[in-house]
Amino acid sequence: MPIRILPNELIDQIAAGEVIERPASVIKELVENSLDAGAHRIEVDVERGGIGLMRVRDDGKGISPEELPIAICRHATSKIADLDDLAAITTLGFRGEALPSIGSVSSLRLISHPTDADHASEITVDGGATSSVRPAAHPLGTTVEVRDLFFNIPARRKFVRSAPTETGHIARLLERLALSRPDVSFRLRSGDRVLLDAPAPTSDSPGEERLAQVLGKDLFASFIPVDHTSGSVQLTGWIALPTASRAQPDQQFWFVNGRSVRDKLLASAVRLGYRDVLYHGRHAAYVLHLSLDPQLVDVNAHPAKLEVRFRDSHQIHEFIFRAIERTLAATRPEAGATPAASAQSVFAGTAAAQAWSRPIPVSSDSGSASHAFHFHTEQAPVLSRDPWMLARAVSEPLPPAANGHLPLGVALAQLHGIYILAQSDEGLILVDMHAGHERVLYEKLKADRGVGPAASQLLLEPLIVTVKPHEVDAVLEDPAPWEHAGFEIDSVGPSSLALRRVPALLANERVTDIVKSVIEDLAREDGLHHLDAAADRFLGTLACRTAIHARRRLTLPEMDALLRQMEATDRANQCNHGRPTWTRLTLGELDQLFLRGR
Ligand SMILES: Nc1ncnc2c1ncn2[C@@H]1O[C@H](COP(=O)(O)OP(=O)(O)OP(=O)(O)O)[C@@H](O)[C@H]1O
Ligand SMILES: [Mg+2]
Repeated sequence: MPIRILPNELIDQIAAGEVIERPASVIKELVENSLDAGAHRIEVDVERGGIGLMRVRDDGKGISPEELPIAICRHATSKIADLDDLAAITTLGFRGEALPSIGSVSSLRLISHPTDADHASEITVDGGATSSVRPAAHPLGTTVEVRDLFFNIPARRKFVRSAPTETGHIARLLERLALSRPDVSFRLRSGDRVLLDAPAPTSDSPGEERLAQVLGKDLFASFIPVDHTSGSVQLTGWIALPTASRAQPDQQFWFVNGRSVRDKLLASAVRLGYRDVLYHGRHAAYVLHLSLDPQLVDVNAHPAKLEVRFRDSHQIHEFIFRAIERTLAATRPEAGATPAASAQSVFAGTAAAQAWSRPIPVSSDSGSASHAFHFHTEQAPVLSRDPWMLARAVSEPLPPAANGHLPLGVALAQLHGIYILAQSDEGLILVDMHAGHERVLYEKLKADRGVGPAASQLLLEPLIVTVKPHEVDAVLEDPAPWEHAGFEIDSVGPSSLALRRVPALLANERVTDIVKSVIEDLAREDGLHHLDAAADRFLGTLACRTAIHARRRLTLPEMDALLRQMEATDRANQCNHGRPTWTRLTLGELDQLFLRGR
């Protein structure tokens, strides 16, 4: 075939392929246009998953009749005029290609009544062919109707799923958009069913109200607020307590200057912030807004504008990670709040409360604690002499309790060798002793880090770990954290690593599995991982293996020592796997259980 310039129609369809992947992409572009037009109220109607019809109606500033034919032309926009504008974008759209792209692969009707006109006008585009402008009836604002999406591109149409699946995509998209702008009212209808109704909040904290509207009151109840500022960069929003972690990363929302984004860097920073309180494989829930000078972020980095690029990604990563970590560190025992779902609601049997308190299946947590020490080491691990630190803690002066008040109370007894029962001012405290001790040890080990190199064991036969070639490179490029943690590691082939020396405390564990998952973690974090993270992972495993395990009898002073240590420990409301470490039954709740005072 000779080289030729393609006809305009085909050029438009090719370009549309990048922006319009499925019905939800159309809705995204149309709603973003409404938001850019300053709408306060946006109504979306879809039929048959959007394939039949998609209609977006807003009360924004509208488009004048003269501008209607321009609005549907490629590269026509009212949002930027020159290169300087492109470098500091404050609108959601800026490329001037959404309407023409949609028009080239569907039947599009654009009706608008601008604020300064006495009537509305409309224009239609049918697979790229444009009509003339006609007068129409419409209240102030704009409606865009899209029918027969992909009617002229059978190949694309084949990729569209069933109507319920596409409707699901649209519903999730609307949730994102509604979370991005709590000040705007959103409604989504599919046929005659209302799928989302989020009227503009009326309270003093519209963000919280919107969160409860969109994510439900149960999930909202597990959120704690985040608000950190550094210079012109601000992080606000809500993160869920580790005890409300999820099996899927399905409740993670990031907004950068109001734009919903899926960004690896941002996700990795949050994951790192949670690393101490969430076990591998569990996912945090959060709704986070990052605002910064638009010059510091490039939003022109992805065809559907789903990704952004930061001018200084390292600083942003560090800022977010620190903010999340600090917010979570404050979760330690205090009066009046319980980390586990309120004991009473568990007894009351509400499904939601049980869902949040359900234990997380964790395999590495089940082994016995002591076997890790039954091998020869060149340098005996210090901990093996007093693996529990508890005996020592009893003779150490207790950390001062805030104004003599003991949130976790005074130990009364041990229940089935698993739980500590204690009496506090408010009522009965129940503590999972393994989980609580694990956290105390882990925080202590981290604090002690740097006192000396970790004890390690030379292996007679090196252990071979098979990983991807780029992962081998990554380990060899930066072996310091590994060496510090007690590893001697080198490559024995493009995709094989040999472990010649391993940390003493891990020698009996499934070391190769742990090494593999750490390498995968580091790769996922895009080289932006924190040096401490790798070492922390070992310490976390170590703490779990070392912590007192079930069926060990504790004396009352030992139990009290553990309670006091927990009160003085950061993040003590959850173990390293994100499970709650304690809960409380207040006297009021006990009275209710026994129908006392009624
Ligand atoms: N709902 C609306 N209300 C008012 N004006 C609108 C609306 N939708 C589109 N417009 C106008 O039409 C123009 C073209 O819209 P289009 O979505 O194609 O491009 P854009 O939003 O400028 O950029 P992008 O392609 O990145 O979305 C916009 O710049 C805006 O001026
Ligand atoms: Mg647009």
